[in-house]
Amino acid sequence: MLKELWQYVSNPTENPVAKKMGFLTEAIAMEARAKHCKASWGTHYQHCQTAILQASKRAVQKRTVLILGAGSLFDIPLGVLSTQFEKVLLVDLVFLKSARNLAQQFDNVELIEHDVTESLERIMVGFPFVDTPAAWLDDPSIDLVVSLNLITQLPLIPVRWLIEHFEVSEQEGDILGKQLILAHLLYLQAFNGEVCLIADREGVEFNSAGQEIDRFDPWWDVESPSIAQPDAVYTWQWEVMPLGETSRHKSQKNRVGVSFL
Ligand SMILES: C[S@@+](CC[C@H](N)C(=O)[O-])C[C@H]1O[C@@H](n2cnc3c(N)ncnc32)[C@H](O)[C@@H]1O
Repeated sequence: MLKELWQYVSNPTENPVAKKMGFLTEAIAMEARAKHCKASWGTHYQHCQTAILQASKRAVQKRTVLILGAGSLFDIPLGVLSTQFEKVLLVDLVFLKSARNLAQQFDNVELIEHDVTESLERIMVGFPFVDTPAAWLDDPSIDLVVSLNLITQLPLIPVRWLIEHFEVSEQEGDILGKQLILAHLLYLQAFNGEVCLIADREGVEFNSAGQEIDRFDPWWDVESPSIAQPDAVYTWQWEVMPLGETSRHKSQKNRVGVSFL
């Protein structure tokens, strides 16, 4: 707890959205969870890294790779990408010290704190309108874009924020959630380079006896692009919440899939 408090106050992020809306707190909690769930999360990270390396093979040139939702960097084969590409751009709303230290080891790796929805400043003050993101679309050197376990996360904090602080109805929140997911898909499709989308496809909750109690669509009913088929690595189960991690009564597994857009 003390360590987490220290991480919060000492994090150098200047981004008011990251602190005020709770993204920094969530990043710190996620790093702690990744440590507790090392075995199950480690397998998931390995699958992500393999998928990114497959995506890299599809890039015709290797000038710049742009990774959206880089977060902890645990799911990125950073050493290989740094050798293969001239430039590696890692984007997230917030980076913790561990990610900053790791990225510093590579001359051609840059961490960029940026809101990929380009809508959060407005949402933070109560306007539930979604912009069409445009960052890096004008950079012709981007040969590979990876959206990394990000798209289904985009609505979670903003929708909760609007409901809790601005009395936005559940129905309006639902529409905003769908819009954030769709805008990210359209954004990815607007790049000229190869685009790889790694994302949850389904969540399943189990009780303490291991029986299924709920199955849900993390895409807010937006149709997700089809999963690439050529190799078994393109879908896997991620035991995101082993029994006892956040509840003694419930566990959760997500099916993660990879698409090329
Ligand atoms: C499930 S995590 C995956 C992160 C990373 N790939 C990992 O496993 O550590 C989702 C990430 O999306 C980031 N994120 C959420 N909303 C964002 C936004 N609007 N702009 C940029 N990053 C965002 C979070 O900070 C978090 O790091």
